[in-house]
Amino acid sequence: MAGPRASARPSGGAWRCAAQLLVLLLVLLLALPTCAQWSRARAKKPSNIVLILTDDQDVVLGGTTPIKKAKALIGDVGVYFSNAFAVTPLCCPSRSSILTGKYPHNHEVRNNSLSGNCSSPAWQRGPEASAFPVYLNKQLYQTFYAGKYLNQYGTKGSGGVSRVPPGWDQWHALVGNSQYYNYTLSVNGKEEKHGDSYDKDYLTDLIVNRSIQFLDERSPQRPFFIMLAPPAPHSPYVAAPQYQNSFSNVKAPRDGSFNKPGGKDKHWLLRQPVNPMANSSIEFLDNAFRKRWQALLSVDDLVERLVKKLEDVKELNNTYIFFTSDHGYHTGQFSLPIDKRQLYEFDIRVPLMVRGPGIKPNQTLQAPVLNIDLGPTFLDIAGVNMSQVNMDGQSFLPQMAPSLRNGTSRPYFLVEYTGEGCTNSNPDCPKMGPGVSQCFPNCVCEDAFNNTYACVRTLTGYNLQYCEFADTESFVEVYNLTADPHQLENIVKKVDPVLLQTMNQRLIRLQSCVGRSCRDTKY
Ligand SMILES: *[C@@H]1O[C@H](CO)[C@@H](O)[C@H](O)[C@H]1NC(C)=O
Ligand SMILES: *[C@@H]1O[C@H](CO)[C@@H](O)[C@H](O)[C@H]1NC(C)=O
Ligand SMILES: *[C@@H]1O[C@H](CO)[C@@H](O)[C@H](O)[C@H]1NC(C)=O
Ligand SMILES: *[C@@H]1O[C@H](CO)[C@@H](O)[C@H](O)[C@H]1NC(C)=O
Ligand SMILES: *[C@@H]1O[C@H](CO)[C@@H](O)[C@H](O)[C@H]1NC(C)=O
Ligand SMILES: *[C@@H]1O[C@H](CO)[C@@H](O)[C@H](O)[C@H]1NC(C)=O
Ligand SMILES: *[C@@H]1O[C@H](CO)[C@@H](O)[C@H](O)[C@H]1NC(C)=O
Ligand SMILES: *[C@@H]1O[C@H](CO)[C@@H](O)[C@H](O)[C@H]1NC(C)=O
Ligand SMILES: *[C@@H]1O[C@H](CO)[C@@H](O)[C@H](O)[C@H]1NC(C)=O
Ligand SMILES: *[C@@H]1O[C@H](CO)[C@@H](O)[C@H](O)[C@H]1NC(C)=O
Ligand SMILES: *[C@@H]1O[C@H](CO)[C@@H](O)[C@H](O)[C@H]1NC(C)=O
Repeated sequence: MAGPRASARPSGGAWRCAAQLLVLLLVLLLALPTCAQWSRARAKKPSNIVLILTDDQDVVLGGTTPIKKAKALIGDVGVYFSNAFAVTPLCCPSRSSILTGKYPHNHEVRNNSLSGNCSSPAWQRGPEASAFPVYLNKQLYQTFYAGKYLNQYGTKGSGGVSRVPPGWDQWHALVGNSQYYNYTLSVNGKEEKHGDSYDKDYLTDLIVNRSIQFLDERSPQRPFFIMLAPPAPHSPYVAAPQYQNSFSNVKAPRDGSFNKPGGKDKHWLLRQPVNPMANSSIEFLDNAFRKRWQALLSVDDLVERLVKKLEDVKELNNTYIFFTSDHGYHTGQFSLPIDKRQLYEFDIRVPLMVRGPGIKPNQTLQAPVLNIDLGPTFLDIAGVNMSQVNMDGQSFLPQMAPSLRNGTSRPYFLVEYTGEGCTNSNPDCPKMGPGVSQCFPNCVCEDAFNNTYACVRTLTGYNLQYCEFADTESFVEVYNLTADPHQLENIVKKVDPVLLQTMNQRLIRLQSCVGRSCRDTKY
């Protein structure tokens, strides 16, 4: 009898307890947003994402032939995109486009130098602060980076190794441009120097090892984003010891535009190459071609080891894996020995394959996909509200997994490039004069200040490329990719002038597009 009465009239102790409860409640209320986020995350943990980004790997000249295991483990159990493009064919501008989801005219990274905004203070204050990892991190993803970042990363003018870009929880980035040995890393802001012992230092192997370590140490309740950027197959294409004799009979493909003159119908730079190429130049490019394939064999191993690890930690079926390259490459096309930087298909097309939840296996998709679409696709997967993100690209989740999203792809897009040159004449190639760069071997220059162009590439309706140069000739090149897949004939003087005018207007509009207007292609 006394029991219920006693409890109805709280004692001093019970009041204290009630007060404590009130405080607890307040604390809980304050913590509510985080809790809500957590419970959402727990209710259905978002999928993990992996991006493997190779350096200079082409798709047009057989660049994916050596990566057989990667194709079996990613593309064959997911999708291959047969029309994947970089919006600019040079490392630093392209990687900046991948990180920001923006065309170069919006992130303003023009070349591989600090003065061209490659990892510059202006880039750090601006575009990098709203790159995709920042949003993923806010979405409670654990983010991990290993490998080459931007060509000037870690240099003095870029803030040194102590500077870790925002959005990354774990950071193992290469200082400067691609190397296989004898390099420096920033490991979460601390300098780590490496020598040339295969077991300890080979960079392609090291970055997958670090990602495996990360998978062991991560917090299993949270989703993760892993980005691995191996140096392969960029020069100096140093193969792992066990692969140094692979592909000993392989040569660069001889079909298409190989060893053809650029010809009078192409812009100034393409009228320069020695044609036919010297035998020594052909030997040089065959050697490069073979070594690129050898270096890629370690990338193939990287994919195999990472997929195996994801399986071991039981995350494979909840992980999207993207595999792509920063841009393409050429070896002897139009008599240009080795490089990228040109508007042609071999330089702007990239490999792209993806596996993951909701993606049916064994698909090849024709929808055009750009490197600026990677960021929006990651954020879409992570559940970020895209109306609060200012990117030029668009998610291609609808193309890969229509059961998860509906959406249409774009009919045409922009490719833009600012040529690199040297202000002084190259002493080894005095006849070329100033304004050019990358003049080797045999004084064939691969770039020039006036190799500055912008193109519209359409795939729907017309399979056409229309390019305008910022040079003294205001040169225009137009290709019908259906009739002429190797771009041997510039049809600017043959094509219907009305079509040229339409393409020119699209180009002008895209060159100043921002965000939504880059995707609005009604016009
Ligand atoms: C570098 O980027 C900043 C803004 O981030 C811009 O103001 C500047 O013009 C850019 N430099 C070049 C060379 O494009
Ligand atoms: C690495 O540096 C050492 C010391 O400078 C040099 O002897 C070695 O040849 C270099 N190795 C490679 C693969 O470049
Ligand atoms: C990577 O890990 C493998 C397996 O543990 C090891 O054999 C190899 O030496 C490591 N390589 C580097 C560069 O860390
Ligand atoms: C270049 O190579 C071709 C084919 O191998 C050969 O016929 C030709 O004689 C060589 N030219 C020179 C100058 O060595
Ligand atoms: C992944 O596989 C595990 C069993 O290995 C299963 O419990 C889980 O539901 C699967 N997840 C998805 C997203 O299919
Ligand atoms: C993939 O598609 C091809 C052609 O459509 C078919 O022959 C093959 O059996 C398919 N493979 C798998 C694993 O579904
Ligand atoms: C996304 O953000 C926009 C603009 O802030 C807002 O109007 C919309 O309701 C948000 N959508 C969702 C699903 O939260
Ligand atoms: C996509 O559209 C189709 C047909 O309109 C519809 O049946 C399907 O549910 C939609 N899928 C999603 C994920 O909204
Ligand atoms: C990079 O871009 C900057 C700014 O436009 C320019 O001053 C510099 O000469 C360029 N570097 C090269 C190597 O072309
Ligand atoms: C391009 O630049 C080079 C080197 O400065 C110059 O010689 C050439 O005349 C230029 N060509 C055009 C078409 O602007
Ligand atoms: C491109 O070539 C195809 C195949 O020869 C032809 O049908 C089409 O009309 C051409 N397009 C243009 C714009 O010339």
